[in-house]
Amino acid sequence: MLSLISPAKINLFLHIAGKRSDGYHNLASLFQTISLVDLLHFSIHDFDILTCSDPSLPIDHTNLVLKAVNLFRRKTGSLLCFRIHLEKNIPYQSGLGGGSSNAATTLWALNQLSGQLATPQQLALWSAEIGSDIPFFFSNGTAYCTGKGEEVRPLNYFPQRALWIVKPVDGLSTPMVYRYVQLENRIAFDPEKSLQSFNNGNPHYFNDLETAAFTVMPSLKEFKKRLIDSGFHTVLMTGSGSAFFCIGEGVPPLNDDLFCRSANFLYREADKWYTFVE
Ligand code: C5P
Repeated sequence: MLSLISPAKINLFLHIAGKRSDGYHNLASLFQTISLVDLLHFSIHDFDILTCSDPSLPIDHTNLVLKAVNLFRRKTGSLLCFRIHLEKNIPYQSGLGGGSSNAATTLWALNQLSGQLATPQQLALWSAEIGSDIPFFFSNGTAYCTGKGEEVRPLNYFPQRALWIVKPVDGLSTPMVYRYVQLENRIAFDPEKSLQSFNNGNPHYFNDLETAAFTVMPSLKEFKKRLIDSGFHTVLMTGSGSAFFCIGEGVPPLNDDLFCRSANFLYREADKWYTFVE
């Protein structure tokens, strides 16, 4: 059996460049993997079976893990089937990329169990067919992503940063948030300059999807204000929400209904999957 962690991501900044004729949006975003992770267990089996610790998650062919299994067989010609168990910790409908990460981790694992039929570069390229955010997870964990998100420019590691991930009870649907994007509401920052600001150690955090998310879920604006009032110097929604990452000395509001975890940046070494560094 092969067991691998599957990390969440945050968007340190997310700029919407424009709407495309295929309905998607071009973006320019700085992605970073973090130490909030799911755990996936893989073994070769007579038929495909996916089980999950969270009974509310669909485990049929709509799950990105099984989409990744079918993609791997289609691209490589492999006839192998797999038993997969997913221990879910990353909340869904949160903008933390849990499903995309699970798909990338599945492609990596199946390739290991099948005797490396593909290169990591091929896995990354193929993965864009089932989700725009999946190729990013084949970077070292820090990357500048453009196009639909699938054009990945790998970057050097950023210094470690402690943060909190906080999500209200309700989640947000990614297509719904993108539907409410109004280009005139974008924050006027040149993404290349924002990237430089991170490279210079003077980071500038922003997310053009926040305004759209506040339209879909008006209570989210007040939620962000509460987090800022808790003492954090940076509070930003990740991806299409509804989770936020918070940086600084603040204390997150303790409420049983909230998802609230501390985390750090996480990285992947070449030729290995993500691991926790001791
Ligand atoms: O590619 P993925 O399946 O993750 O995208 C989910 C939905 O999010 C798309 O159907 C689209 O509505 C929206 N989206 C977008 N522009 C992107 C990525 C996603 O409009 N760059």
